[in-house]
Amino acid sequence: MELTIFIIAFCYIQRTLCFDATLYKFPNDFSFGVATSAYQIEGAWNVSGKGYSYWDYITHEVKVVVEDGSTGDVACDSYHKTDVDIALLKRLGVNHYRFSIAWTRIYPTGMINNISRDGIAYYDNLINKLLDAGIKPWVTIYHWDHPYGIQRLGGWFQPKMADYIADYADLLFKLYGDRVKTWITINEPYSLCVNAINVMAYIPKGFAEYMCGQNVLRAHVAIWRVYQKYRSTQNGKLSMAFNVQAHFPATDSPADIEAAERLNQFAFGWFVNPVVHGNYPKVMIDTIASYSEKQGFKESRLPPLSPEDLADLKGSCDFIGLNTYDVYLVSSNNGTVDVNPSYSNDCGANIIDPNWNVSYAIHMKAKGLGVLLNWIKKNYNNPEVRITEQGYWEDARNVFDFDRSAYIVANTAQMLKSIYKDKVNLTAYSYWSFMDNFEWNKGYIRKYGLIDVDFKDPTRKRRLKLSAGTFSTIASNRKLI
Ligand code: BGC
Repeated sequence: MELTIFIIAFCYIQRTLCFDATLYKFPNDFSFGVATSAYQIEGAWNVSGKGYSYWDYITHEVKVVVEDGSTGDVACDSYHKTDVDIALLKRLGVNHYRFSIAWTRIYPTGMINNISRDGIAYYDNLINKLLDAGIKPWVTIYHWDHPYGIQRLGGWFQPKMADYIADYADLLFKLYGDRVKTWITINEPYSLCVNAINVMAYIPKGFAEYMCGQNVLRAHVAIWRVYQKYRSTQNGKLSMAFNVQAHFPATDSPADIEAAERLNQFAFGWFVNPVVHGNYPKVMIDTIASYSEKQGFKESRLPPLSPEDLADLKGSCDFIGLNTYDVYLVSSNNGTVDVNPSYSNDCGANIIDPNWNVSYAIHMKAKGLGVLLNWIKKNYNNPEVRITEQGYWEDARNVFDFDRSAYIVANTAQMLKSIYKDKVNLTAYSYWSFMDNFEWNKGYIRKYGLIDVDFKDPTRKRRLKLSAGTFSTIASNRKLI
């Protein structure tokens, strides 16, 4: 196994990086981990008083959204496999495990008059066992599975969402904050407000995304305010898991360079600028206001945040949680204003599928990570960055996953380069995902895991892939080779 890793490492370092990453070791406090989310792995969708969630509704009632028609009813059955999973985490040698709490296991209806003791006990036990195994629990408060009742009230279009989620987070801090020191408030605000809305029929595009974004930011700051009550005794750190892809200009033309930069601001700056600098990026405010006027609207389609929210948002994250997977080539749309508004038209950029072969894609993804980390350093005053997700997919079961192993090696080399050469304040890496799981609209077709799960087997047998060996060797040696 080790020999394979050496070879992969050697090939990729030589090819991808003009920096000898092999000379460096990760800092002692750099944290290696893996990530999952409740709906994607837990199963046990209706046991022990768990309430019906938005994703229970999507998979049971909307159905067409999921390509293979599957549900997360059983998923990896992790709800019943705490000991098995913790033993595997130990084999991977992780320092932390990022998982999410299912809101409906704590408050089955989402309302605070109805608490589930079993749900509370489940996460209590998981957290204790992780700590006993020497693994730090990183908890995502919300990873897309809000109570269905709250969806009926409008979900992310309901301004009261901020109050509901803050009440739920308050209980989590009270219950688990003595042991949990890393909290992610909301997973991927961009995916929540763009990807999820893109597939909704009859929803006013070019409005809905920004209304959702406004409520997500309000929700984040509401949770942040609640945490201030606990901060001095609990001493944890809190952020969102922001997501963005690396955007490379398709050509050297100033218009394409500007388009790639604009896309960074529209996708990432939209949420990170408010929490670091206290407002939306100027390019978003100006562009959407001017496009809205040209399209005949009375006001900007980007709804403003209140002065109180803006004031509290500024500085409302202790580190930047980064989810990133891909590299896009971007060209300018030359400022064409469509009659029908849309988020993508506001971005003024076209995304081009580069159609790279696998090994070049791996090389580019690692390079993209480096570019992105430098961009974050420059735009947000060199903040602490923790990679909260990064992963590689395949559409078939494959235990000998050479490409995923190469991807991990290439990105590890890039992280060393970012830390030592570019002086980026990168302190953690979380590979997505710990194991193959329910991959949202791709059901069980798409596999990101370091561990293979047999979804046909009622016991959900788990098997380490080659990449699990690559990952665990790097994590335990804390260096490439
Ligand atoms: C999400 C995960 C998802 C992964 C791979 C991220 O956008 O946070 O839940 O499984 O990407 O698609």
